[in-house]
Amino acid sequence: MDRNTSRARQFEEAENTPTNPTANATMGDLIAARLSRRDLVGGLLAVSAIATALPFGALTTTTPAMAQDNRTTPSFDFKEVAAGANDKHHVAEGYDADVLIRWGDKVVTDAPAFDPHKQTPAAQAKQFGYNNDFLGYIPLNGSSEHGLLVVNHEYTNEELMFPGVGRQDTTGFAMMTRALADIEMMAHGGAVIEVRKTGGKWSVVTESRYNRRITAETDMRISGPAAGHELMRTNADPTGSWVRGMINNCAGGVTPWGTWLTCEENFNGCFWGKADGQPDEKALKRYGVPGNWFNWGQYHDRFNMAKEPHEPNRFGWIVEIDPLDPASVPVKRTALGRFKHEGAGNIVNKDGRFVVYSGDDQRFDYVYKFVTSGLVDRTDRASNRDLLDHGTLYVAKFDADGTGEWLPLVHGEGKLTAAAGFKDQGQVLVHTRLAADALGATKMDRPEDIEVNDKTNKVYVMLTNNAARTADQVDAANPRAANRFGHIIEIMPDGGDHAATRFRWEILLKCGDPSVAAVGATFNSATTKSGWFGMPDNAMIDAGGRLWIATDGNNERVTGRTDGLWALETEGAARGTSKLFYSCPTGAELCGPAMTPDMTTLFVAVQHPGESEDPKVVATFDKPSTRWPDFQPDMPPRPSVVAITRRGGGRIG
Ligand code: FEO
Ligand code: CA
Ligand code: CA
Ligand code: CA
Repeated sequence: MDRNTSRARQFEEAENTPTNPTANATMGDLIAARLSRRDLVGGLLAVSAIATALPFGALTTTTPAMAQDNRTTPSFDFKEVAAGANDKHHVAEGYDADVLIRWGDKVVTDAPAFDPHKQTPAAQAKQFGYNNDFLGYIPLNGSSEHGLLVVNHEYTNEELMFPGVGRQDTTGFAMMTRALADIEMMAHGGAVIEVRKTGGKWSVVTESRYNRRITAETDMRISGPAAGHELMRTNADPTGSWVRGMINNCAGGVTPWGTWLTCEENFNGCFWGKADGQPDEKALKRYGVPGNWFNWGQYHDRFNMAKEPHEPNRFGWIVEIDPLDPASVPVKRTALGRFKHEGAGNIVNKDGRFVVYSGDDQRFDYVYKFVTSGLVDRTDRASNRDLLDHGTLYVAKFDADGTGEWLPLVHGEGKLTAAAGFKDQGQVLVHTRLAADALGATKMDRPEDIEVNDKTNKVYVMLTNNAARTADQVDAANPRAANRFGHIIEIMPDGGDHAATRFRWEILLKCGDPSVAAVGATFNSATTKSGWFGMPDNAMIDAGGRLWIATDGNNERVTGRTDGLWALETEGAARGTSKLFYSCPTGAELCGPAMTPDMTTLFVAVQHPGESEDPKVVATFDKPSTRWPDFQPDMPPRPSVVAITRRGGGRIG
């Protein structure tokens, strides 16, 4: 790591470090071949099956009146924000963007007031954590004005959080005392907060029975085929069936039965020590373990590889949490595989099975989906409790002819045999990346969020960038060498069936500045100078079936604009037209986007505001690039959730 890089850049670099040594075809090779066929199949692709809508009462987030398939005119009616970069956030004219909750604000009833100069682990465990990422809105009694907001707290920036500390990872963590490391552990994980709109404004209900913090110390159950596996056993847990905490939870999803799927991404960075000489050295290195980005392993044996070599196997999972039951124990669902899960976009398939899509965010890593064996029960919430423990995990292969295949990661099938080193299904799942390597999955340009449009059954895959792809690694689905700005792929499952093993795909958009020919961006020509973006990351399909893209990596130097939220047309003549709706303060990336079912409120999560956009400058607690959102001289910048509403009421966008 470069000692002068920001923490976000360090994460970016780590995701950028390819650990995939296989010769599997890369997505870029596929795209070149794909383009020639695109015109031929375009007519067919415009026809997509409409999902069979199953009734599901209060948790349904679709507003039928909003369905507008195959529209040919732009569906977004807001006046876009002027792209640029400064220390404040900006939203489209006629909208209010109000800070709802900030790092350090009270979550649990008896949390102390935030004092950045008197932080303690005990206080942080009750306060809002750092670097809010995924947001999910879960209505209470079907309301769009009263619900639970579930929030991921992805990681910590010690240099911005703690006075006088600066960046520690290259200086031996000299300043990172046990107390500070423990604050970081408590600032990871997630939060459930009850929120309510009164008099047109949202606030957190601080005296709520639902409010809770999940941290790196919260006990969790391990379920599914890898539970109890020898690779999951440690000194503290010889049964391999429970684990302390979740970490690096990036994006996620909400299930139709109202649970929160939260995804462990760059967990490798929290482990301390060496992979060399470990029995599982090959697998550890394939996962980039240990990353040594934090020094928790100095104080806690479980993060120290020399003492607990199996502990990393207990991270990198999708965790299911029931926010409606504050006493519920979070569950790591091993059937969905172990990798750097970005998110958990999902849909109830037309046959009633539940399907979860998830990207593995690293250069040259893969796109996955999981299909349950059982059916979603829309009348009895409790009967979906263990639905995610049984089913089939698949990895995607994108062929150059615009079709693709989902390859099952099932022990005993194909190359996943004991002779090939996979003893059982538990091992296939703990070492998901190695199993997917063996099957010849397509190496992608860093899969971030994947979202499903339940009106069209189209699936959108954000591929954020991959500057390391060389010209001879280009393929049809990853068509640009040195892909700095990323692209978006649209997948159409055969027959509109998300359980099918075949699909068609095409590239919806190649990102970057369309006025620079060498970039090769493909925005619709109706897109303005403010409307284009690079580095798609989080995405959202709103209740009207419209796609919104949040970005990570735009800044004044790279694209002349901060990160933000863009609205992207996907259908008809306007397809590929993008408009800027909200822009971040300097140094931040945008996460979260989530809307209420009635589409009148949009929540966004502003992550790591105040970081430096200049790789040669380290922003710190004392010298951040912005003091958003408080702008007080003694208050550092604070990652925050923002609620956006239309002045005078009405639908967003
Ligand atoms: Fe945490 Fe891949 O973003
Ligand atoms: Ca992030
Ligand atoms: Ca992300
Ligand atoms: Ca990212």
